[in-house]
Amino acid sequence: MNADANQRTEPWAESRPLNDVPAGFPVVSDCVEYLSELRTIVDDLLERRLHFPKDCPNRLAEAMRYSLLAPGKRLRPILALVAYELCSGTDIKEIAPVCVALEAVHTYSLIHDDLPAMDDDDLRRGRPTCHRQFDEATAILAGDALLTFAFEVLSEGAENPETASRLLEATRILSHAAGATGMVGGQADDVLWSSACQGGGDAHKLIDETIADAAEGEIDDVITETGDVRKSAISLLLKKIHRRKTGALFGAAVELGALMGEASVETRVTLRRFGYDLGLAFQIADDLLDVVGDEAAMGKNVHKDADANKLTFPALYGVEATREKLALVVSQAKSSLLERSCELERRPRALETLLYLIDFAAGREK
Ligand code: IPE
Ligand code: IPE
Ligand code: MG
Ligand code: MG
Ligand code: MG
Repeated sequence: MNADANQRTEPWAESRPLNDVPAGFPVVSDCVEYLSELRTIVDDLLERRLHFPKDCPNRLAEAMRYSLLAPGKRLRPILALVAYELCSGTDIKEIAPVCVALEAVHTYSLIHDDLPAMDDDDLRRGRPTCHRQFDEATAILAGDALLTFAFEVLSEGAENPETASRLLEATRILSHAAGATGMVGGQADDVLWSSACQGGGDAHKLIDETIADAAEGEIDDVITETGDVRKSAISLLLKKIHRRKTGALFGAAVELGALMGEASVETRVTLRRFGYDLGLAFQIADDLLDVVGDEAAMGKNVHKDADANKLTFPALYGVEATREKLALVVSQAKSSLLERSCELERRPRALETLLYLIDFAAGREK
């Protein structure tokens, strides 16, 4: 295990200059400094909010704090903060419940993803996974409690009449992204596929369902790439899994920032789409890092997806073609954001940072 497991190292790599400084946000000179400041803000918000009355069993509270306060990148709340600034938000207190809720939902998804019944991993954020450090039952319950905690935090924020209606809408967006048609749905198909390939189920059924559910043009679009309907359906299924298991929460994070910044519906949709694409890029990069990444740098197990028969980009296309597809997702996402960004150009520093973040998501090493 990484000897510096408890030390916070910054994931951001190269630096890009930033100049305008909106009120209410940290004054910085470049993207790296800005993101590090935002990460510190998120860490402080989590640390301050994660306290429980005596009725919460100590072991449960310990497991929740252990996983939530471990050194994660905090990308989802950071994206919400950047989108909030982009949409002219100025009061970080207003968006604080959204940041805490996003990271709580994400951390619960990691705790459950690592369980023996799912990916069976023993390293996360540079530390033993929650079920390794505590026990399986405690890890399941810590995940349950973090998910519930997320919505408790959002609803507490709604006590303020100024933000109540936005936080109610935020609850709808986050629960939709996290639930059966979002993250949990993607995770369900992810494990269904691998267990079917390992002989525990029917992969053909999943392919047939993908063909039956495909919207018009979806399969045809991919057929031109592969020339084979079933292969095309697998490729579509892969994209759908990644968009739901990872894209949905990223899309929600960016949209929630826009919502709290009182952006127009059009801007919210533009930003949600960008967040979705960023999430897809992030997960394709994660698939690549499972093949070429370094366990100590990542703070989690690598070289596991192939043996577990995971449906991933490198498994389907190989490493080189995956890199090309990843570059395409990133460039298309940037172009569509820039095409529709007139309302956003008033905040160039936040726009620059969003563009930086999608490059980071695709090219990261951890
Ligand atoms: C890991 O997410 C799970 C995936 C979606 C691949 P992160 O890489 O954002 O995890 P932390 O929060 O930094 O630990
Ligand atoms: C899971 O994807 C993403 C979640 C929704 C938790 P992975 O299973 O590939 O994530 P890692 O590699 O364990 O972080
Ligand atoms: Mg998984
Ligand atoms: Mg996993
Ligand atoms: Mg992975």
